Amino acid sequence: MTIPDLTTRQVPSVPVTGLPSMPQQGAPTEQPPAPAPAGVPEQPAAPGQAGLPRRPSVPGAYSAEAARQDFPILHRTVNGRPLVWLDNGATTQKPRQVIEALGAYYSAANSNIHRGAHTMAREATEMYEAGRAAVAGFLGAPAPDSIVFVRGTTEAVNLVAQSWGRDNLGPGDDILVPVLEHHSNIVPWQMIAKETRARVVPVPLTPEGEIDQFAYADLLSSRTQLVALSHASNVLGTVPPVKEMTALAHRYGAKVLVDGAQAVAHFPVDVQDLDADFYAFSGHKLFAPTGIGALYAKPEVLADMRPWQGGGNMIDSVDFGLTTFAPVPHRMEAGTGNIGGVVGLLAALDWLGSFDRDAITAYEEGLMAYAQQAMATVPGLELVGAAPHRIAVLTFTLAGHDPASVAEWLDRDGIAIRAGHHCAQPALAHYGLETAARASLALYNTSEEVDQLVASLRQLQLASG
Ligand SMILES: Cc1ncc(COP(=O)(O)O)c(C=O)c1O
Repeated sequence: MTIPDLTTRQVPSVPVTGLPSMPQQGAPTEQPPAPAPAGVPEQPAAPGQAGLPRRPSVPGAYSAEAARQDFPILHRTVNGRPLVWLDNGATTQKPRQVIEALGAYYSAANSNIHRGAHTMAREATEMYEAGRAAVAGFLGAPAPDSIVFVRGTTEAVNLVAQSWGRDNLGPGDDILVPVLEHHSNIVPWQMIAKETRARVVPVPLTPEGEIDQFAYADLLSSRTQLVALSHASNVLGTVPPVKEMTALAHRYGAKVLVDGAQAVAHFPVDVQDLDADFYAFSGHKLFAPTGIGALYAKPEVLADMRPWQGGGNMIDSVDFGLTTFAPVPHRMEAGTGNIGGVVGLLAALDWLGSFDRDAITAYEEGLMAYAQQAMATVPGLELVGAAPHRIAVLTFTLAGHDPASVAEWLDRDGIAIRAGHHCAQPALAHYGLETAARASLALYNTSEEVDQLVASLRQLQLASG
């Protein structure tokens, strides 16, 4: 059985309707080809996975301008100005390969999976499982069965808390959580800790916004059952030394959950190299649709985990006397999954896999350095967080203006940034702040867009004397 290819340009494109000022004047009507080499296989990549081929990518060269051509939305206007999308930490935009794959799936291939005895059910099942293999490859996981599909990072963390946590946490146990975590990697632990009478122990930060490694080493003990930390902070940009922290946690027999929500779009991840017990990410921060994400769990850890939700798809047999469960990962996926979301995620991974990821990381690092310097020229602007190892997240305050009014001002110029607590109140509190503004960059952002951001901020300062 061959899996229908939903990522080629042969499929009818999905018209983007109902959006204001779309497409923008001057936007290319004929899209240049995606930067994929001739002969790249169309089917899902599984880089790093034993026995499966690594998808070839274009070595070295990376062009943000070329990548931008794949994003229809980047050619719209907002308030009469070309959109400058600097809210990538909240969600990334979607390349047309993803949009088209979704349209083609619902136009030609929609079916429920795993249950049907007909051709389309088999095709949809194969696509879904191909998506699982692609995610395993993307994360360097040892096998597709170590991947559970979830709605996103939040659901993944809650799954681990409710399943693994219920069986492995008890009175006197510690869950170590760095202060820079997103609320979705704090609150689920507080909830399960309350039920199991375990403790959530915050790991403090240095003034630069790094995790205090001395404090971390001191807090680890035989009581520590879990360390839950992000691979990149959504508010400070900090990329902690996850591999080293994981190795230290393992010395105490603790498990490590890594929240990869902000990391995966910015640099390659290898869960086996990190030796993470759990790794979670959201598709929508990785150029894929909303409502789909993945949890990786080490096969031996996942095998021991109880189901966290009951229903269809996750059982072996049901009887009022005794119900038995399907093997993992299906045991963890009750009900109909987000099949279209997996198709979109597969297309996003395929699209991303056509680039040299290291070249993207290098490009973003250069852009970030440029943005830091450029923003430093805005009077009264202070960047929050100064970790040297970081992703392209620029959280800032502007003297004389609350963050919400800064975001409103920029919006008038078509520039989308985020203002608020960024679901990381403890991280902001570390700097004595309740809210801040945040520009978060992605692989399709350019130095010209950074210039527009800086020019608009300077005008705001000028306008307010
Ligand atoms: C670091 C981090 N973790 C978790 C999340 C939650 O992701 P989602 O809302 O997709 O579940 C986010 C979202 O911004 C995040 O930045």
